[in-house]
Amino acid sequence: MHHKGSPADVIPLQYHAQMLLDDRRMGAFQAAIARVVRPGMHVLELGAGTGVLAHFAVVAGASSVIAVERELSVYQAASRALDAHGDDVTVVHADARAFTPPPVVDVVVCEMLHVGLLRERQVEVVGAFLSSYAGPPPVFLPCATIQAVQPVSQDFTFYGYTVAAPLFQDPSAAQPRTVALAPPSIFQSFFYGAGSLPSSCAADVRFEVERGGILNAVRMITKNLLTEEPTPVEWLMNYLVVPLPKPVEVDAGDTVRISFAYRPGDEIPELMSALHAEVLSPARAG
Ligand SMILES: C[S@@+](CC[C@H](N)C(=O)[O-])C[C@H]1O[C@@H](n2cnc3c(N)ncnc32)[C@H](O)[C@@H]1O
Repeated sequence: MHHKGSPADVIPLQYHAQMLLDDRRMGAFQAAIARVVRPGMHVLELGAGTGVLAHFAVVAGASSVIAVERELSVYQAASRALDAHGDDVTVVHADARAFTPPPVVDVVVCEMLHVGLLRERQVEVVGAFLSSYAGPPPVFLPCATIQAVQPVSQDFTFYGYTVAAPLFQDPSAAQPRTVALAPPSIFQSFFYGAGSLPSSCAADVRFEVERGGILNAVRMITKNLLTEEPTPVEWLMNYLVVPLPKPVEVDAGDTVRISFAYRPGDEIPELMSALHAEVLSPARAG
């Protein structure tokens, strides 16, 4: 899928259209930017893609908008589209990690997000911004990320063929192939603008099983708080169901321990190989 030699987090232009068609994502960002960006503000967007969020910032009345994009073809598409809209945006072709921000930034928009904080470099890019920016504290959009994990029994059989492959799910759709064995548990939450950013995404969580079955996967749940003020705008991302290397049979009442650790930006296989589940206190034994 990726061009030879390209970094793994490259998103070709055809996938940007998919992001533009994602109504939950687009609606949340449009609403949040309209609430946060006030006339006269200086906005910096890191990872501009096609430039749509920079456009929303212009519409909200920002007095300056800088949009940084690393991929040449995507940068060119953004430059052309913003130009065609007559939007006064400075589009910069650069790696956001090496970009020196202007002296004053009121709002940092950064959507380099993937469920689980996997694959994309949100944390690294925001961290690089924070270490090179000395001006008054900006507002980050999104302002926070909250992550949860849930033990599930997943049907991985397709047309009679069984293969345990990670899969994405629309959280607003019914998922008849997934049986939740316990409610989700939050393992991480942090604000982008406050203190230190996480260097790992790690969980060591105990669940009381509500429904017995074969525990063969976990569902990763990532919710981003785009803004808190004046009213919260949240973006719940598509779920990611990740198969367990070693499925375990569980009964209602069992306590199950699920653990993993990976770094933000790691690939899905790195989470897969770090995943571990064990039954701590079998209900059937007691
Ligand atoms: C998930 S897309 C979001 C695009 C756009 N902001 C939107 O909301 O439609 C993330 C974008 O960040 C870009 N990107 C990834 N890493 C980058 C980096 N280190 N510096 C600059 N851009 C980067 C990708 O090429 C991609 O266009």
